Amino acid sequence: MSNFKAIILAAGRGTRMKSQTPKVLHKVCGKPVLEYVLDITKGLRSLTTYVVVGHGSKIVRDVVGETVTYVQQDKLLGTADAVNRCAPYLKNYQGTVLVLCGDTPLLSKDIVAALLKQHHRSKASATVLTANINNPLGYGRILRDTQGHFLAIREEKDASDAEVKIKEINVGVYCFNAKDLFVALKKVKLNPGKKEFYLTDVIELLLADGKNVSTFTTQDETVAFGINTREDLAQAQAIIRQRILSKHMLSGVTIMDPLTTFIEAGVVIGQDTVIHPMTVIHTDVRIGRNCSIGPVSRIRPGTRISDGVEIGNFAEVSRSSLGRGVTQKHFSFLGDAVVGQDVNIGAGVVTANYDGVNKNKTFIGPGAFIGSDAILVAPNKIGAGAMIGAGSVLPKGKNIPAGMVAIGVPARVVKRRD
Ligand code: UD1
Ligand code: MG
Repeated sequence: MSNFKAIILAAGRGTRMKSQTPKVLHKVCGKPVLEYVLDITKGLRSLTTYVVVGHGSKIVRDVVGETVTYVQQDKLLGTADAVNRCAPYLKNYQGTVLVLCGDTPLLSKDIVAALLKQHHRSKASATVLTANINNPLGYGRILRDTQGHFLAIREEKDASDAEVKIKEINVGVYCFNAKDLFVALKKVKLNPGKKEFYLTDVIELLLADGKNVSTFTTQDETVAFGINTREDLAQAQAIIRQRILSKHMLSGVTIMDPLTTFIEAGVVIGQDTVIHPMTVIHTDVRIGRNCSIGPVSRIRPGTRISDGVEIGNFAEVSRSSLGRGVTQKHFSFLGDAVVGQDVNIGAGVVTANYDGVNKNKTFIGPGAFIGSDAILVAPNKIGAGAMIGAGSVLPKGKNIPAGMVAIGVPARVVKRRD
């Protein structure tokens, strides 16, 4: 569906977050809020995506990267002004402009796709996404005449007592004909109450100009949910977390206790893997088939786990790759480790990967056996089939050849492994 360009409004200060971090960079299930919205425009293959930034724009650019076009809005003069900042980029564009807000991580791609589809089919000048919600507090209300024709969007501040009771709200997602949009934007007047230019005023201006304006209504109560406070962040996280868990369960992963399992966005888990209670799996993790993870394990970003791996209680794995059939059953830490297949990691094993300045790597060859409580001070290499005795400390930079047994503090090679 690559017949539109997108504008994402993300210049707001997010004052109520009480944070040094721009609101749209706060994370929900390990992923910045803005990325959820960008996933939609990417997924629907927008021709270009413009992100209107103001507060903390440099940090936003650093985190999100240069796959989108940034448009600066230094003074927050309202949503109409924000969209109008994109006018110079869209001068010669005649197609559809999709406008979204950068702080709505629950919005779904399917709904936006349906909105675009209706907009294109109806050839309307503008199509507004609306939702019927139980608690419309704070949202712009959809005004209709007695026949149900769409008349205008009324901001709560400017609404009469009767209008405030309306439960159909403006989600803040719109499709516009680019040409009509920028003509109308020129005519938007400053709202005297809020001292802002409202994008929502464009609707009445288009109608007054005889243009066709329509709505697309969803019953999904969550789509309009925007992040304004840390409490909102927690609520959005609860919903997205549930969506993520459901997705994994539906694709064949057993999650023993969804109530105590946290799996962030961007995790791949193979079929028939079992996740035991109180397990945290961070973003950018891949786990193969037939694995057993937890209870009480933490798998951190950059980790790749092959098929048939067992990670038990109080185990942590970070930025590591584990070959097929590795067992790491009890309280231990693997960080920056490359572990070959069928390696046994004993209880209490620690890769001391951080020397205070650098993070160093540990290589453990296939079939190696690391005895309980061994400390492997990285960097080091343990050859295939080698064995490290219980309680040994392998000093920094020391390598153990394949098939040998090393024991002691510091660990020394004592014999060939039988
Ligand atoms: C807006 C809509 C309202 C709708 C609601 C949905 C207007 C006038 N009202 O209200 O009808 O129900 O969204 O959430 O548009 N932004 C900028 N620059 C600005 C102002 C805002 O980039 O100068 C961005 C914000 O960062 C935010 C989005 O635009 O992502 C919406 O702005 P916000 O101030 O939250 O508008 P609402 O009052 O919520
Ligand atoms: Mg808002």
